[in-house]
Amino acid sequence: MFKRNYRMKILFATLIMVTVMTGCAKEPYRDSAVEESVATKYTPHILDAFHIAFAPGADETERTFSWHTRGINKKAVVELSRLDEAGNILSSETFEATVEGVLRGQSRHKAIITGLEENQLYSYRFGDGHRAWSESYTFRTQATEDGDFNFLFFGDPQIGAGDGAQIDADGWDRTVTTATEMFPDTAFLVSSGDQVNRANNPIQYDGWFSPEELTAYPIMPIVGNHDAASFADYFNVPNETGWGGDSEDSDFYFTYGNTLFLALNSQSSDVAEHKEAMELAIAANPDAIHRIVLVHKSLYSSADHALDEDVLALRAGLVPAFDELDIDAVLMGHDHVYVRTYQMKGDAVIGETAYNEEGAAVDPDGTVYLTGNSASDSKYYEMRDPSVYDRYSAVALQLEEPTYMNVEVTDDSLTFTTYKVSDQSVVDAYSIVKTFGEE
Ligand SMILES: [Fe+2]
Repeated sequence: MFKRNYRMKILFATLIMVTVMTGCAKEPYRDSAVEESVATKYTPHILDAFHIAFAPGADETERTFSWHTRGINKKAVVELSRLDEAGNILSSETFEATVEGVLRGQSRHKAIITGLEENQLYSYRFGDGHRAWSESYTFRTQATEDGDFNFLFFGDPQIGAGDGAQIDADGWDRTVTTATEMFPDTAFLVSSGDQVNRANNPIQYDGWFSPEELTAYPIMPIVGNHDAASFADYFNVPNETGWGGDSEDSDFYFTYGNTLFLALNSQSSDVAEHKEAMELAIAANPDAIHRIVLVHKSLYSSADHALDEDVLALRAGLVPAFDELDIDAVLMGHDHVYVRTYQMKGDAVIGETAYNEEGAAVDPDGTVYLTGNSASDSKYYEMRDPSVYDRYSAVALQLEEPTYMNVEVTDDSLTFTTYKVSDQSVVDAYSIVKTFGEE
C-alpha cells in the first residue's frame, strides 16, 4: 500500500514537472487564483468621496471643494483635468487638500482649484495622495468677457423640515434639475441658507447633496440658523473675512465677472463687524460694477419671521450700511415666502423711481430686497396681516409650491426672475438698468 502510494506520488510529480516544463516553453506560468489575489490586494481601490461640495471660488478662475471620505485619511488631493470637447484629457494638475478633521469615522477635506479658463470643459476627481481615486466629475466654465452671465438662487431647501428627508430631498432634486435644465449655461447656484433642518443630521445632508447636478454646477451655500452648527463641516467658502462670525463662520465674499457678492452670516448680530467685512470686500474689488448681498435672514418679508426681534435688529443695523455702501440688491431666505420690495433707502420706500418702456427701473436709488421661498417644498410659512409688510412690499406671495430665481447680469443691468418649478411660469420679474450718466 505504502509503495503503491509512493509510486503514484512520484508519477504525479513527474507529470506535473513535465507539464510545467513544457508549459514554460510556450508561455509563462500563470496561476489565476494567485493573480486574482494580487489584483485584489494591489489594484487601487475606488475612493469613496461623498458630500462633495463644489462651490464658486474667490473669482471665476477658481472653485472651492469640501468632501468627506470614510476612515482616517491623512492626505487628500484633487486632480483637475482640462478636456477637449470629446472628453479626452489634454492636461492634468494636482492640488493639495487639507485634512480638516475626523467626525463619525469620516475624514473631512477642503481644497481650492485655480487657473480655470473660460468656456472650457474640465473634469475633477479626489485622491488619497497614494493610489486611490474617486470617480471623475465634469464641469464647464462659462464666458465672462462680455460681462453677461446668470446665476440661480434657491430659497431654503431645509431638508428634513417637511414630511421626511427623502421627500424633501426629492423636491430639492426636482428643483435643481428643472432650474439647470432651463438655464444649462448658468455660471453657478446659490442656496440661501438652512440647507438642512438639523445641523447634526448627516442623512439630511445626504439629501441636500443628492442632486447630481451639484457636482457639475458650483453652488454657494449661505449659512442659516438651522445649519450653522455644522456649516464648516460640510462647506468651503472663499475669502473668509474673520468678521461677522461670532457663531461658526465669518462673512465672506467672491466676485464673478463684473459683480461682487457679499455673503453675511446672519447668526451674528454684530452689524459693525458685518460692515467691516463689506468694506474690506469692496476695497479689494473697487471695480465691480454690481454689488449683491447674500444673507439668510430676510430683512423685509411677509410671513412668520417678518417681525422677529433678531430680524428687526439686523434690519436696523444693516440697512444703513447697505445704503452707505451702494448695495444694488439683497437676496435672502429664512421666511419661506416670496417677497420683492420697492427700491428702499433709510428703511423707507424711495418715492420716485424712473422706469423705461420695458418696465426696468432706470438708475434707481437705494436697494431692492428679494426673499426666496422654499426650493425643496419642505416648508411654507403663513402670511401675516398685510399691514405688516404693505409698507415695503411690491410683491408678496405665498404660493405654497417650490420656486427658484434666475438672475441675469450684464455690464449695465440686473434682472431677477422667479419661476414656479411645476410649470416654469414666471412668478415675478424685476430689472434694474444702469446708464452711468449716458442717458
Ligand atoms: Fe432660517
